Amino acid sequence: MILQGKEVAKHIHTELKEAIRPLKKPPGLAVILVGDNPSSQTYINMKRRACEKVGIRSFFHHLPDSTPEKELLELVKALNFDAEVDGILVQLPLPDHIDPVNVIEALDPKKDVDGFHPVNLGKVIAGLEDGFIPCTPLGIKKLLEHYSIDVAGKHVVIAGRSAIVGKPLAALLMQNAPGCNATVTVVHSRTQNIKELTRQADVLIAAVGIPKFIKADMVKEGAVVIDVGITRKEGHLVGDVDFENVEKKCKAITPVPGGVGPMTVAMLLQNTWLSYQRSHSSS
Ligand code: GUN
Repeated sequence: MILQGKEVAKHIHTELKEAIRPLKKPPGLAVILVGDNPSSQTYINMKRRACEKVGIRSFFHHLPDSTPEKELLELVKALNFDAEVDGILVQLPLPDHIDPVNVIEALDPKKDVDGFHPVNLGKVIAGLEDGFIPCTPLGIKKLLEHYSIDVAGKHVVIAGRSAIVGKPLAALLMQNAPGCNATVTVVHSRTQNIKELTRQADVLIAAVGIPKFIKADMVKEGAVVIDVGITRKEGHLVGDVDFENVEKKCKAITPVPGGVGPMTVAMLLQNTWLSYQRSHSSS
């Protein structure tokens, strides 16, 4: 079975559009891009188009590559206080002279709809539900739930330990909460015998950023395989999974493109809507 993230994302868009349509003043997302990284421009265009589709206003701030860090921090602080702005997204990577940690820490955690701020990452670990869960981990959980793939009691193996995918995804899926309760193993570049571990996975999630890293002999027969990788290679997008060979062995697999990517974008919209609802609730 192919897990069609693109189709599931479309359902989420439709639901959000319905919820937002009656509002006099729809939610607003500030989108900051520093420089002209072509991949970042593509991602930003996708996110802004998705906002437009569901009726979220996006406020685009395109700054030159030479922007001093101080100026970016000032923009973030101004947006933190801007009542029109429910969410702030700073597209990564940033130019080398800007420390992304300083920028992420300058965000108001209540507007950090990417879920990158340490306060929001900490809330995922603590199991607190009043933060923002990073969009890719949340999108993977939703995709599994949509296809009734229950991870409770199952062995989920995550390849990759990034702060925005691997680590929060491990924390999320091991929680004692609906759609979670997995037994999670995280493997990474210093893990010995990676294959021995990935072959034990009931659900294998690849988030290493190395094209076709997961080969068929690393996957158990009948496993579910989720591919987070998106690498541009000779004009196409290539995932972290050797799809052609792995597909034959597994019960379900996500394609690249059209799998996890659209779910990430849908969760960005959902988090922006959540932020709006939180700031407009009377309690
Ligand atoms: N760069 C790569 N992925 C992402 C993402 O999900 N959000 C932001 N802000 N930057 C990214």
